[in-house]
Amino acid sequence: MIEEMKRKAGEKAAEYVKDGMVVGLGTGSTVKYTILKLGERVKEGLDIIGIPTSRNTEELAKSLGIPLGDINEYQSIDLTIDGADEVDPHFNLIKGGGGALLREKIIAHASKYEVIVVDERKIKDFLGKFPLPVEVTPFGYLRTMKVLESLGCRASLRKKNDGIFVTDNGNYIVDCHFGKIEEPEKLERKIDEIPGVVEVGLFINLANEIIVGKKEGIEIRKKN
Ligand code: 5RP
Repeated sequence: MIEEMKRKAGEKAAEYVKDGMVVGLGTGSTVKYTILKLGERVKEGLDIIGIPTSRNTEELAKSLGIPLGDINEYQSIDLTIDGADEVDPHFNLIKGGGGALLREKIIAHASKYEVIVVDERKIKDFLGKFPLPVEVTPFGYLRTMKVLESLGCRASLRKKNDGIFVTDNGNYIVDCHFGKIEEPEKLERKIDEIPGVVEVGLFINLANEIIVGKKEGIEIRKKN
């Protein structure tokens, strides 16, 4: 059922992609369905350049024959489609569950239009139940974690198998358990100010549209 909700949202978003577009390709198990559909459409002649937000997405897109470019070559992106871990009523997001938040944020910022694909479990009244991912430099990470905790969270270093999870950029992820985040915009600024923080998974004023896969159909929410 959850997979079906993800598929509906992901495939719907693929319909937004038109010939000639430079398209940001997000990361995760929901946007994977968008990318699979785009792979089919490229085989049928769709002419696009994809800008991947992670190595995983790059590999998937390459395997499907989607032509890829680099953010340095294509600094303005027509449309980006990406997933999210939480979405609040103001279109603020928590992202980074897959650890790709830095590239995702750079690409969202470079995009004229950002579409977020989620299943209905991700729609929340407020952000913070999902631990907030923060990408930090390995240098001084224990101190950086302490400073993050001084903002009122419990910080845990993300692990993978027996070791530390390392991002595509060679950094670590600290998952910050804040509980209800009252003022996401202020928190984003405070976290960004901490030396050693590379980026925070709060996405404020970056999403234009949310496609929600539901048990019954889909819902499309557009920001005014
Ligand atoms: C990766 C992300 C993903 O978009 C987010 O974790 C949602 O993934 P999924 O669709 O698999 O739930 O931010 O860094």
